[in-house]
Amino acid sequence: MLQNWEALKEACTSCEKCGLCKTRNHVVFGTGNPKSKVLFVGEGPGENEDLQGEPFVGRGGQFLDKMLAAVDLDRKTNVYITNIVKCRPPQNRDPLPEEQEACIGWLRNQFALIRPKIIVCLGRVAAMKLMKPDIKITKEHGVFLEKNGVLMVATLHPAALLRNPSQKPAAFEDFLKLREKIEELGCDIAKHQ
Ligand code: URA
Repeated sequence: MLQNWEALKEACTSCEKCGLCKTRNHVVFGTGNPKSKVLFVGEGPGENEDLQGEPFVGRGGQFLDKMLAAVDLDRKTNVYITNIVKCRPPQNRDPLPEEQEACIGWLRNQFALIRPKIIVCLGRVAAMKLMKPDIKITKEHGVFLEKNGVLMVATLHPAALLRNPSQKPAAFEDFLKLREKIEELGCDIAKHQ
């Protein structure tokens, strides 16, 4: 476990723990404020993210930014955003279980240094890995559960919302609940620490 954020980032960006390192352009470590109390976790970088080295920068990411803004959150100042796997799976397939296992140590180390109060899983892959393997995201999104003193919740993946716009209001409800929880916990998101 590395204790220093920059050292962790450096080690992660030269990772060769799984085959995804062979096809990547960039390791997508994450973005945001590592001192924030809310951690968002997606599944893995897509094409744009791989090219730019930042998570959620494609159309889905732009939509995520809007949802965040609607509840006074912002990717640069008061949340941290990362993924289960830090390198793009070819053709945007789901990351394989062994790729997720090889990569999860980086997320665990990020988690240990950020010490978030709330983790938001963006989509099925992150929710299955971090919350419960049999989660049914269409039914269980927006339901908070506590694990080792950390609140966890899943919401629908932004890319899925672009494919199924009828689900946008349900996802928006999840973000409103998230804002309530942030207020309830007294996380001072305005100060950015
Ligand atoms: N989808 C994800 O799950 N993560 C990204 O960073 C981009 C798209």
